[in-house]
Formats: sequence, structure tokens, C-alpha cells
Amino acid sequence: MTPEQFLEFARVLPEPLLLVSSEGQLLATNQPVADMLGLRRQELRGRMLLEFVTESANDVVKYLQACSSSRTMVIGSLTLRKNDGQTLICRSQGAVIQPWSPESSALILLRLENRALASSNFVLLNEKIDELAKEVQKRKQAEEALKKANQKLEIRVEERTTALQETLNELQLTQTKLIQAEKMSSLGQMVAGIAHEINNPVSFIYGNLYHAHKYTQDLLKLVQVYQQVFPNTPPEIQEQVEEIDLDFLFQDITRLFESMTVGTERIQEIVKSLRNFSRLDEAQLKQVNIHEGIDSTLMILKHRLQARDEYPEIKVIKKYSQLPNVTCYPGELNQVFMNILVNALDALEVSAVNGQPLEVNLRTTGNQTLTKNNPQIEIKTEVIDEKWIMVSIADNGLGINEQIHSKLFDPFFTTKAVGKGTGLGLYISYQIIVERHNGQLNCFSVPGEGAEFVIKIPISSVS
Ligand SMILES: Nc1ncnc2c1ncn2[C@@H]1O[C@H](COP(=O)(O)OP(=O)(O)O)[C@@H](O)[C@H]1O
Ligand SMILES: [Mg+2]
Repeated sequence: MTPEQFLEFARVLPEPLLLVSSEGQLLATNQPVADMLGLRRQELRGRMLLEFVTESANDVVKYLQACSSSRTMVIGSLTLRKNDGQTLICRSQGAVIQPWSPESSALILLRLENRALASSNFVLLNEKIDELAKEVQKRKQAEEALKKANQKLEIRVEERTTALQETLNELQLTQTKLIQAEKMSSLGQMVAGIAHEINNPVSFIYGNLYHAHKYTQDLLKLVQVYQQVFPNTPPEIQEQVEEIDLDFLFQDITRLFESMTVGTERIQEIVKSLRNFSRLDEAQLKQVNIHEGIDSTLMILKHRLQARDEYPEIKVIKKYSQLPNVTCYPGELNQVFMNILVNALDALEVSAVNGQPLEVNLRTTGNQTLTKNNPQIEIKTEVIDEKWIMVSIADNGLGINEQIHSKLFDPFFTTKAVGKGTGLGLYISYQIIVERHNGQLNCFSVPGEGAEFVIKIPISSVS
């Protein structure tokens, strides 16, 4: 390439290019070189590269020689001395484009690159990278924040779900309690209604029995008088006397009236117990004799205490102390006695039949028949101090296993078969004693020996 050709070629290129001889003479330059040096292009032609750089002549020649003898591009560094006295460090890339020959020296093409510009580009690039890194960081943080927010949301959703589930459970429990209360109240109404209806006719019978007995006695006496006055009765009368077995009738009629009286008295007692138990008229706080409540409940459960088929009789041992009247909700308290007594009867019946505990799977008792021969319920009452009384109901059934002891008062906890147990008896009893009467209800049990339920209630301090 001649210097002219080079000029033609280099004019259009934006990067600084120079054509130098291997001795360092400038053969041609393009406009960017002149701009770099702050000179006009004409001022450069024919001059030596050495004049425009700070490097020593030796270094420059060495570099140019290296360029002319290499087949590849040789990279070097040149510090340009600009027209205004400032210096400019450049990276140079040199390549031989026409090798040395005897006619002419080698031609070298130098390409200059402003280091400062390059490094400012580098700075720019660095800044860009920095920005990008920051952006990436920001995105990461945003992602992290989003993740956390998501987690929080999930936790909140979970909390809400739990709260809703709890509310639902509470509602279901309330509903069951309402149904139970409704059942108890309609049962109470029915019992009270029946008791009332029976009471009237029984009162007629009881009231008239006395007179009927007396009139019969009078009539019998009259017959006796007839017999004395007319000992020789005509045969028709004699026949009738024999037919009705008058002597036996004389003896039996009194016993008959006596047993009728006992019977009606018992009906009256049952009616009284039913009314006492349901205590419909007494939904309010009232001072009552606790023993009457227990006895009425026992009276209603009498059929389950008697010996039947495979069940032996269940003995009730009462150890009543002198108790003051207690201010309470009598109907509700009777319901507690009923629940605890029914549980005791259930436990005794199960052990009486097969000697196995209620919770068959939880304990092994071997073949022992623990209470088959002497099932009993002991009811004890005591004054604890001037403020409290205690009622204890203990059975000698199979007792309560430790594993289920803590669940006894939980709603719906039952070990009984579906349809037999609701698991509400002790739960409701606990509510009545602890919440309605500010009392305490505890259970003590030695597995295999029985269970004792102890009720403690204040004599008068129900709020
Ligand atoms: N006297 C008792 N002896 C043995 N277990 C009892 C006794 N009383 C209560 N339990 C146990 O407590 C459970 C809960 O009693 P309860 O709340 O009255 O419900 P339910 O009688 O409907 O099962 C019973 O299923 C039974 O396992
Ligand atoms: Mg029960």
C-alpha cells in the first residue's frame, strides 16, 4: 500500500491510523491522528514519530522493528506529546504492511487508542455493571420481600383458618348444648306433666281408700252381728257364705287394703320424686335440701339398682351428714347427680357382666371378675367448713384408666358404644358445678377398684 492508497483508505475510518517507515518517519496519517495531537495533517507529513512521543528514540525504534519483523500485530504503548504541551497515553497496535526490501524500508501501520478514553469506557462499563448488579440486587430484595409477604400471608390465612375452625367447633358445641338443654327441659316438662296428671287420681284413690276400708269394715261388722243374732241361717245364705269363703275374706280384706295403701303411698312418693327431680318451678336459685335431690334421683334410677337377668342388685350405701340447705339451681344439680350415678351404674353393669373394664382395649384385667358379687355405690355428704359442702359418689366398678383420666370432662369424650354414650354427661356436669355454682368437680380412680366423683359447692355464695 502506498501512502496515497493508505490515505484514501484511512480517511473514512474514525480511529487514529498512521503509516510509518521502520525508521519512524511519518508517511501518512488520517484526520483523527491530527486531532489527537492538535495539529493539521499537513504539518505531520515527513516528520519523525519521535518528535511527537515522549519515549526514547531507542524504545521507539525497537518497537517499530518488532512490528516490522513480526507477522502478527504487536501491541505497544506510546505517550503522545500534544501541541498544547499535554501528554496522551495511547495503546498502539502495529503491523507490517510492506516488508523491507533493498529498494525501500518496511512500512508499518500503527493504530492508536486513547487509554483514557478506553479506561473511561471501562469506567462506564463498570458503572453499567454496577448498575446492573444493583438492579439485580434490588430485584432479589423485591423477590425476597415478596416471598416474605407471601409467607406472612400464608401464616395469616392459616391463623384465620384455625380461628374459623375454633369458632365452628365452639358453635357446634353450643348447638349440642342447646339441643341437650332443650331435651332436658322438654323431658323435665314431660316428667312434671305426667307427675301432675298422676298425682290427682292417685290422691282420689289414696283419700278414698281410708273411707272404703272403713265402710268395708262396717259392713263386715254388720254381717258378724247378723250371724250372732241369727246363728241359724237359711241354707241359701249358708251356701253363699261358703261360696265366698267369708272367713278368709274377713282376714284378707284388711291385708288387701293395707297393701293398696302402701302401693298408693309409693306412687305418691314416685310422683313427688319426679316433681322434685324435674323442679320445673325452680329454675331460679333456691335454698334446698341436697339429700332430697339425691334421693329423688335414686328413686328414678331404682329400676337399674334392682337385680335383673344377668345383673346382680346394686347396693346403695348412703353416708349422709347433717347438711344445711344449699343455695343452688336444684334442677341442674339433680342433673349432675343423675349423670354421675348413671355413669357409675354403667361401669358396674359392664364389670358385672364380663368383669372387663369399659375401656376394654386400654387395660388388661385377666379373668378377674372384679365387682360381680358386690357392686355398690357409696354416696357420702359432708360439711367441709362454714362455707362449703361436699358430695361424693363412689362406685366399685372397674375404674378409669390413667390414659383417659385427663379427657373425662372433654365434650364428646366417651368410651361407650355409639348410641349409648354421648360424651356430654361429665362435660355438662362440670359446667353446672364449676361455672353455674362456682364449685369444683373432681374424679379420683384406682383402675380396677372403682371411681369416685367429688362435688364441692359453696353453701350460699353462688353469684
Ligand atoms: N364411674 C365411672 N367409672 C368408669 N368410667 C367412667 C365413670 N364415669 C365416667 N366414666 C368414663 O367417662 C366417659 C365420659 O362420661 P360422660 O361424659 O358421662 O359420657 P358418656 O357417659 O356418654 O360416655 C365415659 O364414657 C367413661 O369412659
Ligand atoms: Mg354419662
